[in-house]
Amino acid sequence: MRWIVVGAAGMLGQDVVAAAQAAGHKVVALTRAELDVTAAAACRDALDGADVVVNGAAYTAVDAAEEHEADAFTVNAVGASNLARAAAAAGARLVHPSTDYVFAGDADAPYGEDAPVAPRSAYGRTKAAGEWAVLAASPDHLVLRTAWLYGAGGGNFPKTIVRVARERGGVDVVDDQRGQPTWTHDVADLVVRLVAAEAPGGIYHATSSGDGTWFDFARAAVASTGLDPEIVRPTTSEAFVRPAPRPAYSVLGHDALRKAGVEPIGDWRRRWDEAAPSVLPK
Ligand SMILES: NC(=O)c1ccc[n+]([C@@H]2O[C@H](COP(=O)([O-])OP(=O)(O)OC[C@H]3O[C@@H](n4cnc5c(N)ncnc54)[C@H](OP(=O)(O)O)[C@@H]3O)[C@@H](O)[C@H]2O)c1
Repeated sequence: MRWIVVGAAGMLGQDVVAAAQAAGHKVVALTRAELDVTAAAACRDALDGADVVVNGAAYTAVDAAEEHEADAFTVNAVGASNLARAAAAAGARLVHPSTDYVFAGDADAPYGEDAPVAPRSAYGRTKAAGEWAVLAASPDHLVLRTAWLYGAGGGNFPKTIVRVARERGGVDVVDDQRGQPTWTHDVADLVVRLVAAEAPGGIYHATSSGDGTWFDFARAAVASTGLDPEIVRPTTSEAFVRPAPRPAYSVLGHDALRKAGVEPIGDWRRRWDEAAPSVLPK
């Protein structure tokens, strides 16, 4: 099959390119310089002849989006709409990553794929609009909500925590926000498996199983470097205020994957143990 990955230099985009190639697909990788998703006509031209299109392009600066929501909307919603229309014209299946931030984050049980969206941040609003655009314009879509991503090819939480812990000898991390740390390599593998399984179009949750807090994840990251995990100290969201509100409970359920006969990603701690050597700098 002919795959086109846009936003191919992003953290997830890089792993999708590698996973699709490893699965034997012919992959065209388009970076932002090669295709700007905000240009509708360029999207139509670029996607011609594709069987599968993966959207790795996004405005992902969650805090900056509070001040620059229109810029985020242009990429996350208008760009998604452009790709959805272009994929539809090409007769291609569109894989569109979304986020746990489309939910309010105040639940006490995992969010189902059909739970009502109620974003609390500008970034979440623009990603919810992107989902809507894809559902509306692309008849053959896989919307994959993911969360707390880390990978070898980008800046991310465990890399930052380990650097700060080494530099300062200790670090305070919030222990009252719960979610699912997820390896981009695993999301990329899931994309390949969903396409191979010819899974029905719709919304899927592409996060690790289990859940933990940022503090739990920081301790796991620090422990995997051989440092004493006790140098990570718990703190609260009240003591560590950010411009964009962060969900307290951002755990996603995986029923749609199971219904499609596709195995969800494994437990986050075991996946981190496998990922750490390739994600953390030596
Ligand atoms: N990172 C997370 O924790 C997380 C959590 C939940 C969901 N997600 C979702 O997962 C997906 C992948 O995230 P990621 O962490 O891999 O993001 P990323 O590393 O920030 O990559 C996004 C890529 O999109 C490119 N891009 C930005 N504007 C573009 C445009 N107008 N046209 C084409 N490309 C453009 C960026 O290029 P430049 O670098 O040159 O700007 C970058 O290469 C996104 O949909 C994101 O919303 C991420």
